Amino acid sequence: MTAPLIAPHGGTLINRLLTGAAREQALEAAATLPAIALNDTSLADLEMIATGALSPLTGFMGAADYRAVVQTMRLANGLPWSIPVTLAVTAEQAARVDIGRSAALTEDGRPLALLHVAEKYHYDREAEAQQVYRTTETAHPGVARLYRQGEVLLAGEVDVIQLPQRAHTDFADLRHSPAETRRIFAERGWRRIVGFQTRNPIHRAHEYIQKTALEIVDGLLLHPLVGETKADDIPADIRIDSYKAILDVYYPAARVLLAVFPAAMRYAGPREAIFHAIARKNYGCSHFIVGRDHAGVGNYYGSYDAHHIFDAFTADEIGIVPLFFEHTFYCKTCGGVVSLKTCPHDRSHHISLSGTQVREILARGDLLPEEFTRPEVSRVLMRGVQPRHG
Ligand code: ADX
Ligand code: MG
Repeated sequence: MTAPLIAPHGGTLINRLLTGAAREQALEAAATLPAIALNDTSLADLEMIATGALSPLTGFMGAADYRAVVQTMRLANGLPWSIPVTLAVTAEQAARVDIGRSAALTEDGRPLALLHVAEKYHYDREAEAQQVYRTTETAHPGVARLYRQGEVLLAGEVDVIQLPQRAHTDFADLRHSPAETRRIFAERGWRRIVGFQTRNPIHRAHEYIQKTALEIVDGLLLHPLVGETKADDIPADIRIDSYKAILDVYYPAARVLLAVFPAAMRYAGPREAIFHAIARKNYGCSHFIVGRDHAGVGNYYGSYDAHHIFDAFTADEIGIVPLFFEHTFYCKTCGGVVSLKTCPHDRSHHISLSGTQVREILARGDLLPEEFTRPEVSRVLMRGVQPRHG
């Protein structure tokens, strides 16, 4: 009997990975087709399309879906979707591929996939920036990336020959596809699973909201994002080490699964919260944590904009249940981690550290206050602030 896990977005878990003879044929065909080299973000998108993390997408978006997503946060068929998943190329690259034929999507010259080119189209970067990121400022890392990318979008289904190199080398033991997380959840008998997105090391505030959520479900999927992040975010390997350092000590092994989320970070705040939630539904999560300034950067978004955006959809349309958390912190007077919702004391009672303060403390070789970060995590982070060798 299959466990009654939540249905994937759109109803079917997509799998675009070729096997057997079809794979051999695609590999042979790729050698003679025009090649498009993928950048870091597109490699991540390809991996997620291939494994069904972006179900129901089967490839890179065409113009109708793209415009509907940018303007209405829905695919052309009405299904909620908040972030464009597109393949941007230069005009020269676009000129080398023909509509109705295939192109080879490559990494370091190796073919990863066939793109069955259905459309090539121009798009308005500023309109996308304004709608998706709510700003056209290039100081925003997501907008900066958008403005750097090519001026033509190639669209079509993909058939994937092999996953990007990183899928075999980076966190391979934690790189569970949606089919795999679903199998693991079913094996463990979990039905209600809460997913946790993060691009940061794990602080006590994260631990608090994770465990508070876990109180009402069967299992917790700790799902740190390991695709491209901005240069001053803490590198993924350090973040993953910080998770490993505390899992055994403070988390119930039988109720937690640590796995990595291959996506690149967009920093699109509220729109990305919807995207993150839908992807975690595909991984089999029934619930998803959305805290303060989810996927935010700088002061571009209000602290709870990522909560309010869920009001644009019915609960049925989104399927996965968002669990909203207000700003959490340690309160000396309450004697524990609490939130703006649960703590009656003013800021002088709270322990809060800025990113700069955190870096200064660690660079001195001191542990962060235990109320802020577990010592096991401080030690991992200390390694991260030392100059890297080799
Ligand atoms: S991000 O992808 O959302 O940028 P981050 O690691 O900063 O990752 O946060 C992970 C999740 O925890 C998000 O849902 C975020 O809203 C929530 N979160 C982080 N810190 C806090 C906090 N102090 N209080 C409440 N929620 C928080
Ligand atoms: Mg954050």
